[in-house]
Amino acid sequence: MLLNLCLFFLFLTSSDITVQAIGVNWGTASSHPLPPDKVVELLKSNKITKVKLFDADPLVLQALSGSNIGVTVGIPNSMLKSLNSSRKVAESWVHDNVTRYVSSGSSGVRIEHVAIGDEPFQQSYGEQYHPFVIGSAMNIQTALAKVSLANQVKVVVPCSYDTFQSESSLPSKGHFRPDLNKTMIELLTFLRKHHSPFFVTISPFINFHRNKNISLNFSLFEETKHPRNDAHRTYKNSFDLGYDTVVTALSTAGFPEMDVVVAKIGWPTDGAANATSSTAETFMKGLMDHLRSKSGTPLRPRNPPIETYIYSLLDEDQRSIVDGNFERHWGVFTFDGQAKYNVDLGQGSKNLVNAQFVEYLSSKWCVVNNNKDLSNATASSLNACSTADCTAISPGGSCFNISWPANISYAFNNYYQLHDQRADSCDFGGLGLITTVDPSVGNCRFPVELRTSHSVSLYGTSLIQWMILLTINTILQDFL
Ligand SMILES: *[C@@H]1O[C@H](CO)[C@@H](O)[C@H](O)[C@H]1NC(C)=O
Ligand SMILES: *[C@@H]1O[C@H](CO)[C@@H](O)[C@H](O)[C@H]1NC(C)=O
Ligand SMILES: *[C@@H]1O[C@H](CO)[C@@H](O)[C@H](O)[C@H]1NC(C)=O
Ligand SMILES: *[C@@H]1O[C@H](CO)[C@@H](O)[C@H](O)[C@H]1NC(C)=O
Ligand SMILES: *[C@@H]1O[C@H](CO)[C@@H](O)[C@H](O)[C@H]1NC(C)=O
Ligand SMILES: *[C@@H]1O[C@H](CO)[C@@H](O)[C@H](O)[C@H]1NC(C)=O
Ligand SMILES: *[C@@H]1O[C@H](CO)[C@@H](O)[C@H](O)[C@H]1NC(C)=O
Ligand SMILES: *[C@@H]1O[C@H](CO)[C@@H](O)[C@H](O)[C@H]1NC(C)=O
Ligand SMILES: *[C@@H]1O[C@H](CO)[C@@H](O)[C@H](O)[C@H]1NC(C)=O
Repeated sequence: MLLNLCLFFLFLTSSDITVQAIGVNWGTASSHPLPPDKVVELLKSNKITKVKLFDADPLVLQALSGSNIGVTVGIPNSMLKSLNSSRKVAESWVHDNVTRYVSSGSSGVRIEHVAIGDEPFQQSYGEQYHPFVIGSAMNIQTALAKVSLANQVKVVVPCSYDTFQSESSLPSKGHFRPDLNKTMIELLTFLRKHHSPFFVTISPFINFHRNKNISLNFSLFEETKHPRNDAHRTYKNSFDLGYDTVVTALSTAGFPEMDVVVAKIGWPTDGAANATSSTAETFMKGLMDHLRSKSGTPLRPRNPPIETYIYSLLDEDQRSIVDGNFERHWGVFTFDGQAKYNVDLGQGSKNLVNAQFVEYLSSKWCVVNNNKDLSNATASSLNACSTADCTAISPGGSCFNISWPANISYAFNNYYQLHDQRADSCDFGGLGLITTVDPSVGNCRFPVELRTSHSVSLYGTSLIQWMILLTINTILQDFL
């Protein structure tokens, strides 16, 4: 009995440490998103206990109902202007997107944070969203307090990796971007007042990608011959360097005790040099071991981030690629929920579980007809690539070396899949040909897209029919 009790407590504490602090970002910038109920199954079967969203899609929140998964809901940047200027708008946002879901108790959604914007301080946005962030945060906070949810749901602002900087990449020289000094003080004052944590992106991949002076080993938590020394502290990996730069920026601004949540961290698997499944696996294993060791960083020893959200759960074929082709390949899982590699996200030593019973379109592909004059094929394929996802055949991509004209077929096929395999989307002036033979070459997979809108409408009609039947039944019962 006593032993059992001890084991019970052991289990409680160990799961507290290892499981609860890790979450994932679930983005839906996909042409054919994996249905929300499949994604929630994927989260549950891999024991993922926290998820961060970029909006408050009712279908996603419904799927999360009763799951007991901790949820961060997001407010899109485009809404910040109206949220800053109107408390009423904030109140209806909270009513529609928070209160409705949390008030149903254990069958509702465990909303833990509301994220104000999606990295609204990103330097490339300039002043587009920045002036509305603090006002929006205050209005949402007031709206939450009005419905007595302010203790349960914390207001946070996800800050991009470029909100902070340092001279010569030294953590001890960390500070916020000068144009944000005033806003950051306001933000941190707000967060401290309401006991909310500081949400920030740490990006060892982007640092590596942009800075020739950073070694791959240093970025991947591997042995490094040249650790960085900074003010008598030794940095053996890029994560600690980035994290302590944030810690110094917070201290310099007068908030040395601020809790930090790593809101986005990951490693992409395509679209750039060293963006492969194998480097991503090394990075993720290194990160997980580091977080679970609870060793912390040189500036915050034994005090690791209170939560860390992996970026990302799934690949998204409609994400903007202004920062690079890798932007569509951050997923630990492919677009259809298949694990790219193994890492312990909470499921322990078992392999990651893939999404189950995924529904695809038919096993059909669009390829270039080799019997035609292909002199205009390249122009057609480039045209297809203006909407279809061609990041894998671009330089640095995993399909770059499939050579001509297989790369034309790749572009044609992605366009055809994007348009739900409509016959007229495989025309290309007579150059396209529909085939049932999988044209995939080696590691270069020619995708078949997911069946989405069709299955949703099927489900919708059957649900409505079922409800009508139920209603008729009830009416009949009342009669008899
Ligand atoms: C934000 O809202 C406040 C209150 O309505 C207003 O005074 C302020 O001008 C707004 N900020 C901007 C940048 O429009
Ligand atoms: C709730 O959130 C969704 C998605 O972010 C948004 O489209 C909708 O306008 C929000 N509701 C209100 C009342 O603001
Ligand atoms: C912002 O802060 C940094 C360091 O904390 C300082 O060097 C810089 O001058 C400040 N910029 C402004 C505009 O106040
Ligand atoms: C590159 O890294 C080395 C140590 O690894 C450092 O001494 C040097 O100053 C760095 N150069 C730049 C330009 O950051
Ligand atoms: C990189 O790390 C690997 C594995 O830890 C190690 O075998 C290799 O020697 C390291 N390379 C350098 C240049 O430090
Ligand atoms: C990283 O990329 C470079 C350039 O493509 C390549 O030479 C190197 O072998 C890669 N290293 C690993 C470990 O993948
Ligand atoms: C290629 O395109 C040009 C310009 O649109 C056109 O004149 C030509 O006939 C096309 N060639 C073939 C083989 O379709
Ligand atoms: C492309 O390159 C990879 C490794 O660089 C190789 O394994 C693969 O066989 C190549 N594919 C083709 C079609 O040449
Ligand atoms: C396919 O490869 C050829 C030859 O390398 C290149 O000229 C063409 O732009 C590529 N097409 C696409 C869509 O990437």
